[in-house]
Amino acid sequence: MQIVFDHVDYVYSAGTNFEKHALRDINLKIEKGEFIGLIGHTGSGKSTLIQHMNGLIKATNGKIYYNGEDIYDKNYNMRMLRSKVGLVFQYPEHQLFETTVYKDVNFGPKNLGLDKLEADLRTYEALKMVGIGEELLDASPFELSGGQKRRVAIAGILAMKPEVLVLDEPTAGLDPRGRDDILDQIARLHRESNITIILVTHSMEDVAKYVDRILVMNNGSLAMDQKTRNVFARYKELEEIHLAAPQVTYVMNALKEKGFSFNTDVTTVAEAKNEILKGLKK
Ligand SMILES: Nc1ncnc2c1ncn2[C@@H]1O[C@H](COP(=O)(O)OP(=O)(O)OP(=O)(O)O)[C@@H](O)[C@H]1O
Ligand SMILES: [Mg+2]
Repeated sequence: MQIVFDHVDYVYSAGTNFEKHALRDINLKIEKGEFIGLIGHTGSGKSTLIQHMNGLIKATNGKIYYNGEDIYDKNYNMRMLRSKVGLVFQYPEHQLFETTVYKDVNFGPKNLGLDKLEADLRTYEALKMVGIGEELLDASPFELSGGQKRRVAIAGILAMKPEVLVLDEPTAGLDPRGRDDILDQIARLHRESNITIILVTHSMEDVAKYVDRILVMNNGSLAMDQKTRNVFARYKELEEIHLAAPQVTYVMNALKEKGFSFNTDVTTVAEAKNEILKGLKK
């Protein structure tokens, strides 16, 4: 699996009064097994960017390659691409529509034209992956809690066996417990199946905890594309584009300014604790 964006531009409603240049000259390469965070202030182009990955939106300019193949080639199998790159929209529970949890998750694989047994197996497997137990199979999706609904929606995508799972703010509107549940499940999925994950989020704490690499969008451009700790080390630049590093980054830098020789290159509370203890022992 590999996704390449080559000088991608996207303009909404070109030639009208509503024209909006939403992506500008995006170049990037995503490899199999990566866990990537996509951040940026509201309106910076995150959702527009990810909808290019499975061909839902077609670039106004530039090319996109999936496994080296040009997805805009006239013979390209877009349907296949849609099943390989699973896109979970923001508030995916709004797209639940079947009468039971089981049927909802089963819908995608059934539609792929798989035989019944294979579609059934995938449905069970996907529900298991997101931690939805058998007791909920016959429940109406609408009876579930917010977090459960969202997990069912994610299972619906996983049942297609995508190579890439793209999640647009999967924790929006959930309480802290529901948020951690979803993210922990996603992290486990990543560890166990080595699926490529792209997580769109507004939470710096979440990207710090989970992702290896961060893409920062600003006004339609890709402002940064680096390892997590390298992006947070640029916290002053992040602030200029209305973002911020996680709180621990600020704590560590404040301690350094007070004369402590701690390594400020940490991104989570656990790492900060270790670094401080190590520094104090010295
Ligand atoms: N259907 C559309 N028609 C016209 N303009 C749009 C459309 N969808 C998005 N835009 C504009 O394109 C720009 C990028 O929007 P996009 O939704 O990709 O941003 P985002 O980073 O996902 O924002 P958020 O964090 O609020 O979800 C914004 O200026 C937005 O107003
Ligand atoms: Mg968005």
